[in-house]
Amino acid sequence: MDRAAFLFFFTLISILLDVYFYQIFKKYKLKKWFLPTSYIYWSITSVTFLNFLFYVFDIDLGYFFKTLFFNLVIGNFISKVVALPFILIDDFRRFFYWIYPKKMKNQNNLIPRSKFLSISASLAYGLPLTSLTYGIISNNVYDYRIKRRVIKLDNLPSAFDGIRICHISDIHVGSLRNRLAVKGGIDMINNEKSDIIFFTGDLVNNRSDELKGWGDDLSKIKAPLGVYSVLGNHDYGEYTSWKSENEKNINFKNLIMGQKEFGWKLLMNENDNVIVDGQKLNIVGVENWASSRFQQYGELDKAYSGLNNEDFKILMTHNPSHWNAQVTNNYRDIDLTLSGHTHGLQYGIDIGKFRVSPVRLAYKQWADLYKYNNQFIYVNRGFGFMGYPGRVGILPEITILELKKS
Ligand SMILES: [Fe+2]
Repeated sequence: MDRAAFLFFFTLISILLDVYFYQIFKKYKLKKWFLPTSYIYWSITSVTFLNFLFYVFDIDLGYFFKTLFFNLVIGNFISKVVALPFILIDDFRRFFYWIYPKKMKNQNNLIPRSKFLSISASLAYGLPLTSLTYGIISNNVYDYRIKRRVIKLDNLPSAFDGIRICHISDIHVGSLRNRLAVKGGIDMINNEKSDIIFFTGDLVNNRSDELKGWGDDLSKIKAPLGVYSVLGNHDYGEYTSWKSENEKNINFKNLIMGQKEFGWKLLMNENDNVIVDGQKLNIVGVENWASSRFQQYGELDKAYSGLNNEDFKILMTHNPSHWNAQVTNNYRDIDLTLSGHTHGLQYGIDIGKFRVSPVRLAYKQWADLYKYNNQFIYVNRGFGFMGYPGRVGILPEITILELKKS
């Protein structure tokens, strides 16, 4: 389904949901302010419709209104989907009484709504909407947190016992507005004085020119053994339109050049190594690996070439699904994999060892450290943000991994 058809059906379903939910909303009969609140109610529906029209007629609202509209439309939709089961259950109940009126306690023609289910539906609608709004106004997107983990590895060469790795991911520079806060985040990275830094993709949202003005700050990210990077799905310019294929290619070349200028070593289906005391740490970097329905750039075979089974290896791959798809089956000698991509959906609960997010439905490994046999994967929750300009529960992350020989 192309984007326009998807947006059409999304808009249609969303408006139908608004109409369906109005029966609950009008039940409240808040006499004094019923009229204005119903205006507010239908104005959100209008935004959903306008959002579709702006897309069809290619009207650019600018970043602020585009983001505002997008979040109103998505927030309203998600909240209604969450609340929908309560209203459906109630309507099935009413339908049952309509067919078998004798089963009803009060024999009259009206089948009232269940107060309990109406209140439950209202709460189920209000909770996501309130929390999503809180996630934006709280400015959580710049509340960087350092996550420290120790990983014990059998195959780690003794020269690297105790090495401190800084792992960052998903900067999405085009979303970042608070320069002072981002500078603070970069200072946090550098203050850790880690031995090596890995960036696992999605430097931009769509275009390499998002990097303009950020060169000085991003060039400051430095470590003695180097800064290594890979590309994420957003780095290929595939989620925006281009005047020509040539323009798209130039954009991609500029993104690669940009990373070189920052002093980062971008690995595109290739490997590199760092040597300490004559011992080797192999770094394998794949381009964006995608499940079959998307453009496939990641080639682990190619990235791996020239390496042997025994050597210690760290793989950088943007999408954590790659781990189960190829690494834990066919590349059992890859000791540690570093990924990002999920952002932890920027929504969930993440307290101590307890973490839950709807993104788990799509990604088995979606945040933090996972182990399978002797292999590990760490999934970073992202430094930046994308689409939804907020975070609820899942905060932006700078990871410090200390590798120990076991
Ligand atoms: Fe991302």
